[in-house]
Amino acid sequence: MSVRRLAPKELQPANFTFTAENLAWAKEQIAKFPEGRQASAVIPILWRVQEQHDGWVSEAAIRAVADLLKMPYIRALEIATFYTMFQLQPVGKKAHVQVCGTTPCRLRGAGDLIEVCRSRIHHDPFHLSKDGNFSWEEVECLGACVNAPMVLIGKDTYEDLSKESFGKVLDGFASGNLPKPGPQNGRQFSAPVGGSTTLKEKT
Ligand code: FES
Repeated sequence: MSVRRLAPKELQPANFTFTAENLAWAKEQIAKFPEGRQASAVIPILWRVQEQHDGWVSEAAIRAVADLLKMPYIRALEIATFYTMFQLQPVGKKAHVQVCGTTPCRLRGAGDLIEVCRSRIHHDPFHLSKDGNFSWEEVECLGACVNAPMVLIGKDTYEDLSKESFGKVLDGFASGNLPKPGPQNGRQFSAPVGGSTTLKEKT
């Protein structure tokens, strides 16, 4: 897990303005919470901001969210820097790949997936590929250990990956022919590969 800091000043835009649609949506979220608890809407609003802002949250965007929620800047900054779902610097235009590197995924081949990232995207995490379309990082357990190894891209998980199937997932993002999320080895959710194996015997 890397240290999470804001992007350097030269990458930070001077300001951030909500689109009218996103501002209206944010106000709807705020209204769901009782008076005095508006700050509880910070995570969904930061996420929406990230979607508006090419997949990452700038310092100006974090300040705009804090202003909207009338919370201290440091509180919004703490949240944005704590959760790895928030990107703090520019990411690939087509995909930012979060590779789970925790033990179950490691034992099932996460190292191979990281090698693919290094060779196809950039040797180092948080660097853009040459065409600017991809970036990657290693993250802690994403809660899909039963389908290890896996990656998260945007809101979707791609699971039961091998070097080859992960390469195809990246090909899909590159071509715009987006791959279907979930297991990439043909199994249904976390059911046994090849179908059910219990309660089938005739007694
Ligand atoms: S260890 Fe990878 S999803 Fe849990």
